[in-house]
Amino acid sequence: MTATRTIVFSPDQLAEVRRLQGLYPDKRGALLPVLHMAQDAFDYVSLEVQEYVAGLFDMAPSHVHEVVTFYTLYFQQPKGRHVVAVCHNLSCYLAGSREILAHVKQRLGIGVGETTDDGRVTLQSVECLCACEAAPMMQVDDRYELNLTPEKVDRILGELR
Ligand code: FES
Repeated sequence: MTATRTIVFSPDQLAEVRRLQGLYPDKRGALLPVLHMAQDAFDYVSLEVQEYVAGLFDMAPSHVHEVVTFYTLYFQQPKGRHVVAVCHNLSCYLAGSREILAHVKQRLGIGVGETTDDGRVTLQSVECLCACEAAPMMQVDDRYELNLTPEKVDRILGELR
């Protein structure tokens, strides 16, 4: 029997939702931060969570789904203990991000959007992270790794536990 998760914010979290919604002329302006709250509270933004959040904004779940699928910061499935996000935008592309991404995939044995079997790493390929002067680059959790080479990638990935 599988456990069912309860998708409901606590009273404090609901108060924060109302506070955030009150900051904008149109409460929909608070959708992104509330989705972040939901991701923190429920680990990832499943369809069930999207539906719950849509209810808080009196909007269609399909609209919330469009937002969630547009931004790589929202995870629709459980993510790994670490998130590796390789930039694929122009400066990084010209500096070799395609080879870096291929190397990361090969080292981890997973594709973009996937998580290693041991739950260690989730891999993403993302748009510009505003560190173009140090291309190619990737974000590992909350830090930037710059001027990547395959050797540097090996060291970085090897340190992730
Ligand atoms: S293009 Fe990669 S950080 Fe800007």
